[in-house]
Amino acid sequence: MAAPATIRGLDQAPTRHSKLLAWVKEVAELTSPDQVVWVDGSEAEWKRLTDELVDAGTLVRLDPARKPNSFWGRTDPSDVARAEDRTFICSVDEADAGPTNNWMAPAEMKRVMTDLYRGSMRGRTMYVIPFCMGPLEAEKPMFGVEITDSPYVVASMRIMTRMGTKVLTGMGDNADFVQALHSIGAPLEPGQADVAWPCNDTKYISHFPESREIWSFGSGYGGNSLLGKKCYSLRIASVMARDEGWLAEHMLIMKLTSPEGRVHYIAGAFPSACGKTNLAMLEPTIPGWKVETIGDDIAWMRFGEDGRLYAVNPEFGLFGVAPGTGWKTNANAMRTIDLGNSIFTNVGLTPDGDIWWEGMSEPPAHLVDWKGRDWTPESGELSSHANSRFCTPLLQCPIVADEFNDPHGVPIDAILFGGRRKDTIPLITEARDWVHGVYMGATLSSETTAAASGEVGVVRRDPMAMLPFIGYHAGDYFRHWIEMGKGTDGDEAKLPKIYYVNWFRKNADGDFIWPGFGENSRVLKWIVERLEGRGDAVETPIGFVPTVDALDVNGLDMDMENLRIAMRVDVEEWRDELPMINEWFEKFGDKLPGVLWAELDALRARLDDE
Ligand code: GDP
Ligand code: PGA
Ligand code: MN
Repeated sequence: MAAPATIRGLDQAPTRHSKLLAWVKEVAELTSPDQVVWVDGSEAEWKRLTDELVDAGTLVRLDPARKPNSFWGRTDPSDVARAEDRTFICSVDEADAGPTNNWMAPAEMKRVMTDLYRGSMRGRTMYVIPFCMGPLEAEKPMFGVEITDSPYVVASMRIMTRMGTKVLTGMGDNADFVQALHSIGAPLEPGQADVAWPCNDTKYISHFPESREIWSFGSGYGGNSLLGKKCYSLRIASVMARDEGWLAEHMLIMKLTSPEGRVHYIAGAFPSACGKTNLAMLEPTIPGWKVETIGDDIAWMRFGEDGRLYAVNPEFGLFGVAPGTGWKTNANAMRTIDLGNSIFTNVGLTPDGDIWWEGMSEPPAHLVDWKGRDWTPESGELSSHANSRFCTPLLQCPIVADEFNDPHGVPIDAILFGGRRKDTIPLITEARDWVHGVYMGATLSSETTAAASGEVGVVRRDPMAMLPFIGYHAGDYFRHWIEMGKGTDGDEAKLPKIYYVNWFRKNADGDFIWPGFGENSRVLKWIVERLEGRGDAVETPIGFVPTVDALDVNGLDMDMENLRIAMRVDVEEWRDELPMINEWFEKFGDKLPGVLWAELDALRARLDDE
């Protein structure tokens, strides 16, 4: 093993934070990199890193006239999505991980992974990335430090988080921080040639909730390697939130302004690849309405002094699903990426140095596809992986809200839960009250997507769209949600109202019934009317739904019979749903809050009465 003294840069740390220094030294001695680099977040550093990535063949520089300062890269074909079966919550007590997480004892996991990390950075550079989730100006900035041997991760973290010297300075000599260790697990022997996307067949994405640590090994894919995102801001933060009385959720945050100038803030939880980024940047099709973006993936919500729930987006960039993002569906995302400064992964590369993916525009005659092969529209295969991504600074979004950088966040008026269901779930349902809304979230279901490895299109329960992200026992998580409903003073009226939406119902031919995207503004309008005490609704067994005339259909190019189908509460379909919900709830044993069982019983009784 390399003697510590031979690791360049190890003794040149720009900090006196003793805990950080000790950890960096320990990791360097374990992983044996050639050198240690403290990431400063500067332009010059970005230039150096991206040049290196281009030289190594990991990235290709796009035509600056088309996508300035932007890059195209391809992963190993096996490293394209979050590896949920390799993701672990290593709580001290197995019971705390609950029935929805993989678990291994922390000592055992650390033993296994320490063996994997031993020498795993040989021949590579070890980067130390100080980062902050949420504004650095927060009363209690949420610091993290990621150690990684992947320059792709460093470049992506610069887009996705506030990071570098300003964060290290902010940490001072002794601030708390989340330790996030990442290695692609591909050491280089002297003289060994590198590959464009080094990674390891053995993968672990491990979380130690009690000590607030993350250990990731073997994968370079964003969700597994950009550890500030799902690992910190959801899995670890959900544990912090439980302990401290707040919520860390898989939610977009939007600012919605009505034609009269009234502002409402809406948060929405949808499973991965089910529409968060699109909704966050929506262009309303109804006149006079305006959407501004605060976040597209994660919301941290804390009670303000006025007893309302305030949401902050801890991220700094967008890591969006590429396919389906186009001028017709999400023009604001297109405008955002057109400004450049982005990394595109597993999409098509055009001969003129631009990128393309399915759903963006008319296909070009030729491309290099995500596997590096020549592609034409006749190829009979997709040019881009279904989970290919754009990674882009959020501040470039033309409709980013001024409130984005406000450390206090925005007061949330409504929470949307949504999934991808071809049947059963109507376009929009309003919860009767907070507990009913928590029930809706706890029973949320969705067809699986390409965002995680495994089969696609299988209906599974995805509570609050957090199934892969709850860092503890899901039954305790539901209890925490119920507790949050009591607010700071028991006044539920101060809390957001809860809604359940489904943009993805299909007809017998398998086509989406509801046009979605910008047209979703019609649903948002009804929600605002409900929040303001207007808006007609009928009570059904599953909650309140708009009356036939309540939804604004002015200018909507859609058969009204189809609209009724999209909005329908089908009693038979719902009866079929009950055994699945029952089975789901039984998983949690006595950890499931009794009020949720009561909701299910009441739903069953109401359906029986129909
Ligand atoms: P996220 O991963 O939750 O942020 O999901 P995205 O917003 O990136 O969307 C994932 C996929 O769903 C993309 O292919 C979108 O084009 C598609 N999508 C998003 N919103 C809608 C919608 O309202 N209707 C339909 N049919 N597809 C949508
Ligand atoms: P998302 O997930 O689809 O919710 O943006 C990102 C990921 O898969 O890591
Ligand atoms: Mn997204």
